[in-house]
Amino acid sequence: MITERSKQDILEAAKIEEVVGEFVALKRRGSNMVGLCPFHPEKTPSFAVSPSKNLFKCFGCGKAGDSVTFLMEHEHLSFPEALRYLAGKFGVEIEEKEWSPEELEIRQLNESLYLVNDFALNYFQEQLFETDRGKSVGMSYFKQRGFREDLIRKFGLGFAPDTTDGLTREASQKGYSLEHLQQLGLTSEHGRDFFRNRVMFTIHNQSGKAVGFAGRILSQDKNSPKYINSPESDIYHKSKVLYGMFFAQRPIRKEDECILVEGYTDVLSLHQGGVENVVASSGTSLTVEQIRLIKRFTPNLKVVYDGDAAGRKAALRGSDLALEQDLNVRVVLLPDGEDPDSYLRNVGPEAFTGYLKENAQDFILFKTSSLLEEAGHDPIRRTSVAKDVLSSVARIPDALKRAMYVKECARLLDMEEASLHSELNKQIRSGLQKKLKDQPGGGKGTAVSDLPFESEIERQENRRPEAPEDDFCELDIARVLITFGDQVFDEADKESIAGFVVRNIEDVFDSIEQNLFRKIVQLTMERVKDKLPVNPFFFIHHEDQEVQKLAVDLLQSPYEISPGWTDRFEVYPKLPEENFFDDALSTVYRLKFKVIRKVIRENHEEMKNISNPEEVSIRLKMHMELKEKASWLAEKLGTVVPPKF
Ligand code: UTP
Ligand code: MN
Repeated sequence: MITERSKQDILEAAKIEEVVGEFVALKRRGSNMVGLCPFHPEKTPSFAVSPSKNLFKCFGCGKAGDSVTFLMEHEHLSFPEALRYLAGKFGVEIEEKEWSPEELEIRQLNESLYLVNDFALNYFQEQLFETDRGKSVGMSYFKQRGFREDLIRKFGLGFAPDTTDGLTREASQKGYSLEHLQQLGLTSEHGRDFFRNRVMFTIHNQSGKAVGFAGRILSQDKNSPKYINSPESDIYHKSKVLYGMFFAQRPIRKEDECILVEGYTDVLSLHQGGVENVVASSGTSLTVEQIRLIKRFTPNLKVVYDGDAAGRKAALRGSDLALEQDLNVRVVLLPDGEDPDSYLRNVGPEAFTGYLKENAQDFILFKTSSLLEEAGHDPIRRTSVAKDVLSSVARIPDALKRAMYVKECARLLDMEEASLHSELNKQIRSGLQKKLKDQPGGGKGTAVSDLPFESEIERQENRRPEAPEDDFCELDIARVLITFGDQVFDEADKESIAGFVVRNIEDVFDSIEQNLFRKIVQLTMERVKDKLPVNPFFFIHHEDQEVQKLAVDLLQSPYEISPGWTDRFEVYPKLPEENFFDDALSTVYRLKFKVIRKVIRENHEEMKNISNPEEVSIRLKMHMELKEKASWLAEKLGTVVPPKF
């Protein structure tokens, strides 16, 4: 535990420009530094770092914070991890808080457990690399499976010889306690080695520490299990670990996709073949914790399972939870009789990745067609297929996505969409009731808007069915441009508010509905292009009577930043230019939000008329992207105070 004082010291010593500078190319601009925002795609820099305030802020996406926030967001570090990183980088000695005796005990125990596992890992590797038996049995097994030595070392593969207590004895001689060896499952209660005559796989946790082992049998003996695994212990929580995750985290982020396979050897083969964004569930179905772990790095999951019946079943089983956690789940089935490891070795890495790309299927559609295949033409069985599929659909948090699936499933099942909808609603209701019951207090007092099946955007829509801002946001753009378009938005760039606004709404210009406001934006665009001032004078004296009248109305209206502002909106008083800035920003956001909602609705309408699966999946993807943008904007809008007339 890091003390409060240490935290302060670290935060003070950390230089934001150096921390950020490691990941973002920064250029000096006046007293600030700017660069391309690493949190959202952009072509012109709106990401600013202030060395004097020791903070960063992106004026495009609104992300802001200090060095710790940056590392947590950008590098996915936890709070203490970020602090330790900074302490190391800026040479601050970390003062750890006095541990309570209980904390101390747990910590010491865990550290010793890690040490014992380190010992075991070394032991298994030594046996593999340096003993005759290890070389002739273990190493030749790995070689015959095609694993290269660098991979063997990287993943900590090893060999457990066929001795009664070789590991236990050596460990005891070196002073490791029997109790620890037993808790880790390395030694049986009778003092014998647990792993004997097996090739060994090390299971690493998130930070690369050995938390457990798996041993694979070498013979074809059907009476003993193919793999035996370390038991749960204080340092090995099976539900929270995914095999290979330590090595896969960066690649997953880079590919924006996580590939999930079943076995240890699948992970190894793929990794060796250059497909590094891969983890294994190790033969069990996925847990919520494992899914959340994946979600820290990507929303996209690709489940690759064997082509046989068991593989199909496993693929089906693992995916429902992932849907519930709002992952985009796709499934790839390999040709019958192949697992990822064997298939990659058969066809080579290139053909393998090609196969994954071409054969990835949306999970719900996959589930529907595979269950249908089993059911054949039996109408009763088809009905139960529908129920089963809808039970998966009901888990999806996004209503529009659900509606899409109902449509697709109706087509595949050859059933009425309406009847599927009513079954779906039934399932959602019972799911909700169950959730409510499971909640502390039995869900009493839970507002409808808190229910898990409603996504952010639907909440937005429910809260304001008519969304009054919608009517105002075009007028608001005109107000900003006319009344203070000539204010400076960016001191360093000398960009005006008008310049900033039109640059940022260019993409939605065509969606501005009211002619007069389009005209104002159009005029402003021309002025900005010609580097002419966009000021009240220009609009008041404009030849177009409509424009003139609007300008006069706006400039005479009582709108101003009143002294009552602070009380009304609970915001701190700001410098005038900061108010202009926030006002312009939130106005831009609101216009974009309005347009995106409209596009989402239109897209939805379109989807009702299409049945081609290809097209459906394109629309669906579009929908997801739009939704992502919309909820991002909704979130922004929640943090920017809307100006009022
Ligand atoms: P598989 O039987 O598909 O094994 O089990 P595999 O990984 O392909 O291994 P090879 O290629 O035959 O050597 C898939 C996973 O299920 C778990 C392991 O995690 C294994 O990798 N499993 C399987 C066990 O834990 N115990 C077992 O007895 C069998
Ligand atoms: Mn295999």
